[in-house]
Amino acid sequence: MAHQVRAVVARGKGAPVSLETIVVPDPGPGEALVRVEACGVCHTDLHYREGGINDEFPFLLGHEAAGVVESVGEGVTDVAPGDFVILNWRAVCGQCRACLRGQPWYCFATHNAKQKMTLPDGTELSPALGIGAFAEKTLVAAGQCTKVDRAASAAAAGLLGCGVMAGIGAAINTGNVGRGDSVAVIGCGGVGAAAIAGSVLAGAAKVIAVDIDDRKLATAAKLGATHTVNSRHSDAVEAIRELTGGFGADVVIEAVGRPETYKQAFYARDLAGTVVLVGVPTPEMKLELPLLDVFGRGGALKSSWYGDCLPSRDFPMLIDLHLQGRLDLDAFVTETIALDEVEKAFERMHGGDVLRSVVVL
Ligand SMILES: NC(=O)c1ccc[n+]([C@@H]2O[C@H](COP(=O)([O-])OP(=O)(O)OC[C@H]3O[C@@H](n4cnc5c(N)ncnc54)[C@H](O)[C@@H]3O)[C@@H](O)[C@H]2O)c1
Ligand SMILES: [Zn+2]
Ligand SMILES: [Zn+2]
Repeated sequence: MAHQVRAVVARGKGAPVSLETIVVPDPGPGEALVRVEACGVCHTDLHYREGGINDEFPFLLGHEAAGVVESVGEGVTDVAPGDFVILNWRAVCGQCRACLRGQPWYCFATHNAKQKMTLPDGTELSPALGIGAFAEKTLVAAGQCTKVDRAASAAAAGLLGCGVMAGIGAAINTGNVGRGDSVAVIGCGGVGAAAIAGSVLAGAAKVIAVDIDDRKLATAAKLGATHTVNSRHSDAVEAIRELTGGFGADVVIEAVGRPETYKQAFYARDLAGTVVLVGVPTPEMKLELPLLDVFGRGGALKSSWYGDCLPSRDFPMLIDLHLQGRLDLDAFVTETIALDEVEKAFERMHGGDVLRSVVVL
């Protein structure tokens, strides 16, 4: 039996999204049907709508979601109907060269549902990041469902499905931030703010938030940043050095995705420090650095996909910390909206008004 549900579809490059009826098949082998309870609006959804990811319109948008498993297909044993889950875009295969080396967070063959969700006329939809959760129900690979404690609110939990996990993981997993470290985060939107929260969790002694928008700096301070720098008014590199005894930070996280801010990160770190690029650049961007500086300053220049997370390890742990009051996921939810308000949320995101708008169903 197929399910007809309401969902947010992007039909063409740059065109406003529309609320439509879509057809979601019953789960086949290895698949799960999830009743979506909440789904955050991420910058990547806007990238899809603008044709910045690929041309496989129509897209079924939404990918930062939590919900309840409604039914599962043949052979599914890890999740069962009734489970409260966060959806992930890293359902690891267990068999590729990364998985076999014990580094599944680099998995090169992650799973998605095999069957397609469609428009009523049979047109196949491309779900954003293999999820597509601005919908009353969605079909995913069972491995994309990570069971977590039901006590968390769906709006807060769903955010771990993408941006917030990317930021926390950029600090904890990729940057390896440890007790006593100094950290600077350049760009404090949803991802950068999460990198600040992650650095605080990891025990950083100094956490410097850098942004060009005072509203973002205020939230950063609320999440535990010890210092804030508005880089519209002062030089980010100078300010970070000044705050770190003239040396620079041990770990600098770039959460904007631009060459200028990457250069700031590069020069604002201490000798032998680490730069983590979690912001996503566009194809035409180029970076020029004196190779001697790359060599001479030592340390590590890393990039972070999805915070190098392993959903089965990281989601339940972070939800537990949230429930203990040690990770304020609610601080990321600026507003909750209805399914037909995604287009408006894109505008507010563009204006820098929100950390996250979250669709609640
Ligand atoms: N690596 C991943 O897996 C992953 C996952 C999700 C999102 N992302 C990427 O992370 C980036 C941030 O995402 P977001 O949701 O936080 O976006 P956002 O738009 O909410 O935040 C960007 C922030 O950067 C600030 N900013 C812009 N220009 C700046 C500058 N020159 N100097 C300092 N700050 C500046 C903005 O004021 C804003 O606060 C995006 O590129 C997004 O695509 C990466
Ligand atoms: Zn794998
Ligand atoms: Zn995302």
